[in-house]
Amino acid sequence: MTDEPMDVGASSARDEVRITAALTRRPAHAPDHEAEARTFGALARDLAADPRTALQRIADAAMRLCRADAAAVGIIESDGDGVQFRWHAAAGDFVPALMETTSVEGTPAGVALRSGVVELFERTDHAVDTRIGSPPHVHESLIAPWRIEGRAAGTLCVFAQHIDRQFDAEDARLLTGLADFASAAWQTVSALDTHVRVAAESSSERTVLRRQLSLAEEEERRRLARELHDEVGQHLAALGLGLQALSDVAPPGSDVDRRAAQLRGLTDTLGRELHALAVRLRPRALDDFGLEAALQSYAEEWARHSGIAVDLHARGPSTRLPPSAESAVYRIVQEALTNVARHSGAARAGVVLERRDGYIHLVVEDDGRGFDPERVAMPDADRSRRLGLVGMRERAALVGGTMDIESAPGKGTSVFVRFPVAGETTPRVRSVAADRSEQRADV
Ligand SMILES: Nc1ncnc2c1ncn2[C@@H]1O[C@H](COP(=O)(O)OP(=O)(O)OP(=O)(O)O)[C@@H](O)[C@H]1O
Ligand SMILES: [Mg+2]
Repeated sequence: MTDEPMDVGASSARDEVRITAALTRRPAHAPDHEAEARTFGALARDLAADPRTALQRIADAAMRLCRADAAAVGIIESDGDGVQFRWHAAAGDFVPALMETTSVEGTPAGVALRSGVVELFERTDHAVDTRIGSPPHVHESLIAPWRIEGRAAGTLCVFAQHIDRQFDAEDARLLTGLADFASAAWQTVSALDTHVRVAAESSSERTVLRRQLSLAEEEERRRLARELHDEVGQHLAALGLGLQALSDVAPPGSDVDRRAAQLRGLTDTLGRELHALAVRLRPRALDDFGLEAALQSYAEEWARHSGIAVDLHARGPSTRLPPSAESAVYRIVQEALTNVARHSGAARAGVVLERRDGYIHLVVEDDGRGFDPERVAMPDADRSRRLGLVGMRERAALVGGTMDIESAPGKGTSVFVRFPVAGETTPRVRSVAADRSEQRADV
């Protein structure tokens, strides 16, 4: 703390009613150390348990300990318009406009903030400043200011409404102690608010960043898939045609003819692998025909490779979803079915995609051996290598949704994903297989 001059509450006509000197002249009442210790102990506990109500409890305690008719806590705020004053808590008959700001210039609170020490005011009715909501018919007000890092920060005030209640030096001592407490409470609440704000900002920044990364990843996959298909695919096709031309001129059954035929076979295999790789990176069906066609195509391919039968059902409107939502569903199904193939030992799997009540509901289930999701979620040395379930959950979160897993050893596994999507409410059942004749998935 420093003693630099305060920049608030210039002295004014209100000084006429400042009677602080009376505090030393009046006989002080005897201190009640027991009540004081009890009150401060309770305040310390309140501050630890619930800092946000501490200022109110301090106002209540000030009224009680100083035997006042009312009490209030005011806090200084600096903003673009200069220094303002705001009541944060009040007790007794005094009902100030809590949380409204006002200038303290020339008010008793301003005078106390400027002097930096407890001040006593005798307030006649004409001196009552309604702008800062003083209680009616105030006879005396005792005001203890506090500072934070050398700057005026707030005041704790007690008010007496009857002429026979006069504040003395003992009241001033108690009020000063309580004002220190209010300062600590206010600093705690401010630090908490800052912490909450910073945490909220950084979490929303992280979400935006992850969303951008996810979009960038899809874009990069799309570019790679296009390049593989258009560039490398074209070269392979040209190579195949060249080899065919070579066969055409080579004597049938010759060495050159046989080698050319072998190389053509290799080129075909490479072409198919390239195609499959491009589809895995970014199925064209997802861009060209939409989610259901892309899922159907993927499920068929998956069933062929894994040897596990899969049913795919889509319910609800078949209009296109936003690209980020389509990518999320596609990648989640891809990862969930990869897990079924790798871990479940299932005979059957099912995928249900439903648009209902403004939500996408996705279920991927299998009748395999199941697992304990809680154990898998527990931190262990292995966990950093398992990215599938974590990635699925993140993709769901990026589109504002959630993912739940129901699974138990021997009971199969169901993965539920739900996220909001603007638009539709009427459900209708449709078999994707039936639609496929209209919508060939060209992947
Ligand atoms: N359908 C399933 N049936 C049985 N066990 C499963 C199933 N899905 C997930 N699991 C279990 O959950 C674990 C975590 O799955 P996750 O996809 O996160 O990791 P992973 O498949 O082991 O590795 P990767 O990071 O390559 O996906 C798996 O190792 C497996 O034990
Ligand atoms: Mg996995």
